This record gives sequence, structure tokens and C-alpha cells, in this order.
Amino acid sequence: MAAISFSKVSKAYADGHLAVNKLDLDIADGEFLVLVGPSGCGKSTALRMIAGLETITGGTLSIGAEVANDLSPRERNVAMIFQSYALYPHLSVADNVGFALKVRGEKREVIAEKVKAAAEMLELDKLLTRRPGQLSGGQRQRVAMGRAIVREPAAFLMDEPLSNLDARLRGQMRAEIARLQRASGVTTVYVTHDQVEAMTMGDRVAVMNGGVLQQLAPPRELYDRPVNLFVATFIGAPPINLLPGRLRRGGQGMEVALPGLVLPLPAAFVQERSALGAQGDREVIVGIRPENLFLTEGDADALSARVAFQEDLGASLLVHVDLVDPAANAQQKRAGLDELDEGAPAVISTRMRISAPVSARRKAGDTVKIGIQVDSLHFFDPTSQLAIR
Ligand SMILES: Nc1ncnc2c1ncn2[C@@H]1O[C@H](COP(=O)(O)OP(=O)(O)O)[C@@H](O)[C@H]1O
Ligand SMILES: [Mg+2]
Repeated sequence: MAAISFSKVSKAYADGHLAVNKLDLDIADGEFLVLVGPSGCGKSTALRMIAGLETITGGTLSIGAEVANDLSPRERNVAMIFQSYALYPHLSVADNVGFALKVRGEKREVIAEKVKAAAEMLELDKLLTRRPGQLSGGQRQRVAMGRAIVREPAAFLMDEPLSNLDARLRGQMRAEIARLQRASGVTTVYVTHDQVEAMTMGDRVAVMNGGVLQQLAPPRELYDRPVNLFVATFIGAPPINLLPGRLRRGGQGMEVALPGLVLPLPAAFVQERSALGAQGDREVIVGIRPENLFLTEGDADALSARVAFQEDLGASLLVHVDLVDPAANAQQKRAGLDELDEGAPAVISTRMRISAPVSARRKAGDTVKIGIQVDSLHFFDPTSQLAIR
């Protein structure tokens, strides 16, 4: 077991493509770190540099106290667990688990002991005589982990190990791998493009985009305090809503002007985010997660919208609405266009998603009022895309 440390580590491929750009990342001994980001952002490259399967073209990679840049994969003693488990089909579970030890020339009793200990941890003890063909996908995954565990590696490296499994098994294996990692205490770097895996499995999550680390934080903090628009939109399903807004100082303190609604910001909220009041009037992008919006009957501090369509998710509804600007409606009325009002309110082309209880079902085309949990708003600078706090 060992800590892993990236210090300004870069990888430029032979064609000049910079896949990982000056990555700084310290992974603690025993930690479960998830590396997440969209396809092509450099996750596998980063992982393969730890394994010694890609050369490092800049910076320093350390495993334990040792600089690892020039160590062979063997010398690094890390165990890579791939998507395809590549078990030996003609060997029993026990022989699969003990294979690396046998190759190493360990004594028979030593192998038996280590296989037994791993099998107990992985709950494979009753399956030791079976062949891989007689196992479920989840059991095979456990055998693959067992094979890695007996080698007592400095770290486990996993590259999208669950992406071939069906949804139900994937859910089970998420919990299973997280449990096994904690039981074994082996430093683990887990690569995925799936933000649900990232949120549910890691002690900390490193979000990458375009070869650049965006944010490194525990899952809850990523969700509650994204540092920029990329992280805010990448983490969270259904995704965060983004609206154009204006931050300004009003009669009662800071307020935000949204399409068709001016919302005062609570003093405590502003106090906790010193950057909010730091400048005068400014354009912002306002982020609101779907669960921080609610359908309401009251008129005060609510957005006006029209229901576009609804998705029934079973336990809840996801209501898709288009914002309506009441000021524009009033103008239409004054212009004698009353009869058009119901059918054609001035729709701002802003689609929003609201998580609502099933009992809140409306009809497509219904006009609704949307309340906002003000203390869960996120603000971003439209130019730098950084969070304003
Ligand atoms: N051998 C290679 N030569 C050139 N470019 C590569 C090579 N391998 C990967 N890349 C590029 O590097 C970027 C990162 O790849 P990768 O680390 O595999 O991304 P991820 O695992 O996040 O999907 C991608 O744009 C990919 O096309
Ligand atoms: Mg990859």
C-alpha cells in the first residue's frame, strides 16, 4: 500500500496531443480516489502513467516515497483491473486467484493461505472449486479482485471496470467494490465517465476535462460547491439548470434579477460568499439544481413558466418547463392581444427541469409558478466560468 502523487505530470503523445496537462494530485495511502470526466479527457492516460504503461513526458510521479517515472510496470507493484476480467477459463477460482503467486514461485502453503484469506474477504470461499464459466458476472469481478489482492499491491488501478455490466449488476458492484476497497485498505484509483459511480464510490473525486484537473473534493462538496460551470454541469443527474441573471445591490441588500423575477438574496447567504457583494451590478450565470425548484401556488418570488413535458421517473416527476416573462405578457395585453395571451405567452427560450413529487403532475401547456430555494443558488462568471463565492 502506498500514497500516489502527481506533481505537474503531463503526457504529450507522439502526435503532439497533450492528453494530460500538468496534473497535480496527491492520493493518500489507502484512499479510494475516483477520476471522472467525459470521454477523451485523459483519465485512462493518467491511470496508465501510474501503471507504467505510458511514458511520462513532464513532471514527477511518485508511488510511496519513490519517484516512479522510470520504473518498469513490474517494479511499481500496482495491480490493474480491467473491464474484461480475463480469467483463465480452464482454471478453478482458487487457481485463478493464486496464479500470480504461483508464477512468482511462492510455496504451496503460502499460496493456499493467501488465497483463503482473499476468498474470505471476497466471500468466494464456497466457490473456490468452480470454473469462471460457472460464475455470475459479479462473482467473476470478485475473482479478478481476489487475483489482484493476493499480490498485495501498492495500489489497485481500475479503468471503467463496470461498463460492460447491466444496470442492476453495475449498481451491486459499485457497492461491492467500494466495500472491498475499504476492507482491504489498498490505495485505489478508479476511472469512470459515470458521475453516479464517482458520487457513490470515492472518498474523493477528481474531475478532469481536456487533460486538466478541474476540481478535487469529496463527492458532497463537488455537488454543493462546484468551482466552475464545467463541474456544476458534469456532476448531477438530472443536470443543473442555468439561467442568465444580473447581480445587483437593491434597496434591501443584494438581489439577483432572473428572467421575469427579481429575487432578494438573504443577508446570511451573501455574507458567506464575500465575492457576491464585491462588485456592483454584474452579469452572471445562475445555477439551480432541479431539486431546489418547486411548483407553487403563491405568486411571490416565483418564476412563471409553461409545462413543456413531464417524465415520470417512478418515485418522482421531472417536469420540463419553458420560462415565461410576465412583463412581456403584460405588454401583449396592453397591445390588445389578450386573446393570444393564454395560447401564446412570451416564452423565453429557457428550458428548465424541476424535480417534483408525482402528485404535482400537470398537463403539457399548463402555466405554472416555480418557487426557488434561494440559499441553494450557484453563481458563475460568464467569462471565466468560475464560481462566484
Ligand atoms: N496513443 C495515443 N496517441 C495519440 N493520442 C492518444 C493516444 N491515446 C489516447 N490519445 C488521446 O488522448 C486523449 C485522452 O485519451 P484517454 O486518456 O484514453 O481518455 P479517457 O480515458 O478520458 O477517455 C484523447 O483525446 C485520445 O484520443
Ligand atoms: Mg478511458
